[in-house]
Amino acid sequence: MNRKKIIAGNWKMNKTALEGGTLAQEIAAAVGKETVVEVVLCPPFTALESVGRAIDGTAIRLGAQNMHPERNGAFTGEVSAEMLRALFTTHVILGHSERRMYFGENDAFINRKVLAALANQLRPILCVGETLTEREAGSTLAVVQRQIEGGLQGVTKEQITTIIIAYEPVWAIGTGKVATAAQAQEVHAFIRNLITKLYGQALAQKVRILYGGSMKPSNAPELLAQPDIDGGLIGGASLEERSFLDLITAAAAVNQ
Ligand code: PGA
Repeated sequence: MNRKKIIAGNWKMNKTALEGGTLAQEIAAAVGKETVVEVVLCPPFTALESVGRAIDGTAIRLGAQNMHPERNGAFTGEVSAEMLRALFTTHVILGHSERRMYFGENDAFINRKVLAALANQLRPILCVGETLTEREAGSTLAVVQRQIEGGLQGVTKEQITTIIIAYEPVWAIGTGKVATAAQAQEVHAFIRNLITKLYGQALAQKVRILYGGSMKPSNAPELLAQPDIDGGLIGGASLEERSFLDLITAAAAVNQ
């Protein structure tokens, strides 16, 4: 199955509107209309507009890092799917481990966001992954299963291929400790099997599963060569033009 690779930059709480626009312009100049790899930039909310303007007319897509499941109302500090769509956002990261850890998001709440994103034609990038304690306790697969099943409640067969999954072992995020290609592939294959059980083989073969956690140009080729790793959700290495472009090149090399 030839799934198109995705390289998505998760800028987290970095870059002002101006800085983000500049970085996006540099990336846009290099990527242009090339479509071998699907490239997504996920700046903070405040830079969505400037980044959107910088990538207009290119193949690069715009993603947000979070959203609230309700349409509108008294939710101070929150942003809705409709508001994101109005800025030409097409993707949204949901259930990132930092949201789960620091903002108390659980699977049920994340599931409401997934359904709201789908209802508003946004592609969720649903993040799952175990902590170091969970890995050491041997519960990696159980944790990932709970997060996937919880996050996908009510997602239909028609919708499942719209969803992108990101496996991000929490112990590898921002730590420089990357999962080995074998460790990552084991969990990616497990996730694809789970989706096969839930949605059938034909659809499961189409779902893109990204790896995230200290992915950088030096370790990307081996990770991206794994049969069930369909791209990367990149934090640190997405904040600088050179490393992000090198990751796109690495993904393009395995796609060919
Ligand atoms: P990292 O972050 O690449 O800096 O480890 C990845 C992520 O949290 O999405």
